[in-house]
Amino acid sequence: MATPHIDAAHGAFAEICLMPGDPLRAKFIADSYLEQVECVTSVRNMFGFTGYYQGRRVSVMGSGMGIPSSAIYYHELMAYYGVETIIRVGTCGATLGAVNLNDIIFAQGACTDSTFNRNRFGGLDYAAIANFELLQIATARAAEYTSQFHVGNIFTTDRFYDADPNLNTLFERYRLLGVDMESAGLYSIAAEHGKRALSILTVSDHLIRGEHASAEQRQVGYQTMLKIALDTCLEL
Ligand code: HPA
Repeated sequence: MATPHIDAAHGAFAEICLMPGDPLRAKFIADSYLEQVECVTSVRNMFGFTGYYQGRRVSVMGSGMGIPSSAIYYHELMAYYGVETIIRVGTCGATLGAVNLNDIIFAQGACTDSTFNRNRFGGLDYAAIANFELLQIATARAAEYTSQFHVGNIFTTDRFYDADPNLNTLFERYRLLGVDMESAGLYSIAAEHGKRALSILTVSDHLIRGEHASAEQRQVGYQTMLKIALDTCLEL
């Protein structure tokens, strides 16, 4: 039952799928945290894997960067592969002074400059929100590992480069925590299919302070985030 972008067999995906942007990070997560790992799809090298985390069947797949790429995979997994829950495990740039490099952000909602949701929502402004149950479980797990986490609104942008620097001031004024490129699309797709989604992000850059986490620093925050995401899977 291949779809245009996924060549996995029917039933090859677990009901829960963790999704980083980078397909090689998906491979790293599968190799590091899952047992009995199988590579279930590799179209365009967008690798997807299924295995077991402490006995729970879990998949992990890359999404690519930005709503246009990631929405293809979110849609095909939810519409055709029986995926009920997607947890995005990504990075973001921070836009609030109270947020620091390597902090973990739970995107309760996602504003956007993308027309993706507006086009699908009759020209109106769609409030893209995380699934409440997932958010509750994940934040409870987070509190066991770290105090360096935040829950709130983020901004999903179509543009990594040439962003208007005044926007960061605007985001700060409205208490947005950070900027990614996928969450607003993920949330509307999950809602449309009656499924659950949550974006958990580690802060790789600080857009107000012009700071960048080193590769080593990033690894620490990222691993805490993965533990939170995987422990959340055990409760679903
Ligand atoms: N912009 C958008 N997405 C991001 C950024 C950023 O600065 N950093 C990490 N993901």
